Amino acid sequence: MLKIAPSILAANPLNLQRDCLEAEKYGAYRISVDVMDGHFVPDITFGHNIVAYLNRILNIDIEVHLMVENPSSQLELFLNAGADVLTFHIETSSDVNRLIDYIQSNKKKAGIAINPDTNIENVEKYLEYIDELTVMTVVPGKGGQSLIVDCLDKVKQLRKIKEMNNLGFDIQVDGGVKKDNIKLVNDAGADIAVAGTAIFNSENSIQNNLQALIDALRL
Ligand code: DX5
Repeated sequence: MLKIAPSILAANPLNLQRDCLEAEKYGAYRISVDVMDGHFVPDITFGHNIVAYLNRILNIDIEVHLMVENPSSQLELFLNAGADVLTFHIETSSDVNRLIDYIQSNKKKAGIAINPDTNIENVEKYLEYIDELTVMTVVPGKGGQSLIVDCLDKVKQLRKIKEMNNLGFDIQVDGGVKKDNIKLVNDAGADIAVAGTAIFNSENSIQNNLQALIDALRL
């Protein structure tokens, strides 16, 4: 079944410890930390120190999504902070193989993310080497956007490539995942879904929000 990774981008930073522990308790597969540098995307968000503190309190993994212009300059900091998965964007990287090798030589998982307007052809040659491929279903840089359904065609295409070539990478979807579309995400063939506002919104508890996503998968 699709695994759910809450994104702390949508969380109240003043309640991060409490909210991440609640997410862990009620079924989160891992925590996703959206790192933004104000260059690749306009906003600035978290640094490696947040990952270090989260790593001390959580048992589940931490995925760091590097929405930064120069991911190679950040890898060592986040690896040392305890990131379990490091995802960088193909749009920012010229030395992709070196980034993959560096992350995996540190015994961590390497992921590549592609923007909505980036085709799979741009990453196909790396699929046999990476641990995860993240299909962005929103334009990176902001939480609370609507899922771009057409991007799920890339998920279906990736699933076919995986199965035809017996490849082991996980397919992650990131952006706009809600209870009314998570079944579409699952049926397209995704393994992991990142969800921010669907989980860390003030209307319901994190427990109820996670359960609503899990229940929607069973419909
Ligand atoms: C965009 C971020 C968001 C976030 C998920 O750059 O990557 O996709 O993780 O946020 P929601 O679930 O609110 O779209």
